[in-house]
Amino acid sequence: MATIVGGIGTSHVPAIGGAIARQQQQSPQWKPFFDAYRPAQAWLKAVRPDVAVVFYNDHGLNFFLDAMPTFAVGAAAEYRNADEGWGLPVTAPFVGDPDLSWRLIEDLVEEEFDITSCQRMLVDHAFTIPMKLLWPEGPPVRVVPIAINTVQHPLASPARCLKLGQAVGRAVQRYDGDDLRVVFIGTGGLSHQLDGSRAGFINKPFDRLCLEQIVEEPGCLTHYSIRELVALAGGQGVELLMWLAMRGAVGERAARVHSHYQVPISNTAAGLLVIEPESLGDWPAFTPPEGAGAHL
Ligand code: DHB
Ligand code: FE
Repeated sequence: MATIVGGIGTSHVPAIGGAIARQQQQSPQWKPFFDAYRPAQAWLKAVRPDVAVVFYNDHGLNFFLDAMPTFAVGAAAEYRNADEGWGLPVTAPFVGDPDLSWRLIEDLVEEEFDITSCQRMLVDHAFTIPMKLLWPEGPPVRVVPIAINTVQHPLASPARCLKLGQAVGRAVQRYDGDDLRVVFIGTGGLSHQLDGSRAGFINKPFDRLCLEQIVEEPGCLTHYSIRELVALAGGQGVELLMWLAMRGAVGERAARVHSHYQVPISNTAAGLLVIEPESLGDWPAFTPPEGAGAHL
């Protein structure tokens, strides 16, 4: 049996990794950003997940233009990190959960998702930085990485990514291995564009709309095409797809535990969202520590 404890959406900007490496978390520039993660860290301690299923987008470290899966599910016993060019310290390997991975892969294929199963998979900053932000002392969880293509068009639509997440959530609920508590994480976004004539583009009203709608009516965000999403959120703003997959996995109804929005972090509008399934009645009510980050 498995219990879904909730979901987290978070940005994954490499500059955050640089600030961690230089221990600048309490510098005036970085303090508000890092403090905003304290409620998420405290929530994770309260709900005690055993496994994190992480929707993230590879930026050319493991997959490249020669062979680009739309959806790739990790099925390894461990996942190594490597420097894809940002010069960040390479992290310790992450422990996998091959049994859960294969169950997810079987159920996803059964549900007509054509996924790539990866028994070897390097994870980049989009995976390692959220893990460091959420568990600064190292993750006490096993992980299943799920990579969604944002590099080589055509990309899967927002509607398809929400459905992928829903199928992953159903597969976790059907899991009949050990008792497991599972948290879903979606990394990336919010609006940003790193190159071209719109480099530096950020769309605050759209980000705020996303942070509102994704909790109670994620279906509203699935009416956009990828082309419309690029126009509204920037070329790299399509990383919202990871958040939609995370949201789908959490289940039909969800409630906000904590959120934070800060502009800019590097070139990016940085967002953080923690949600719980509304049916999660057994946990004690969670109160975020005082003064930890700005709420929406
Ligand atoms: C930045 C943001 C990203 O999502 C990324 O993958 C790389 C860089 C940035 O804002 O610098
Ligand atoms: Fe990115």
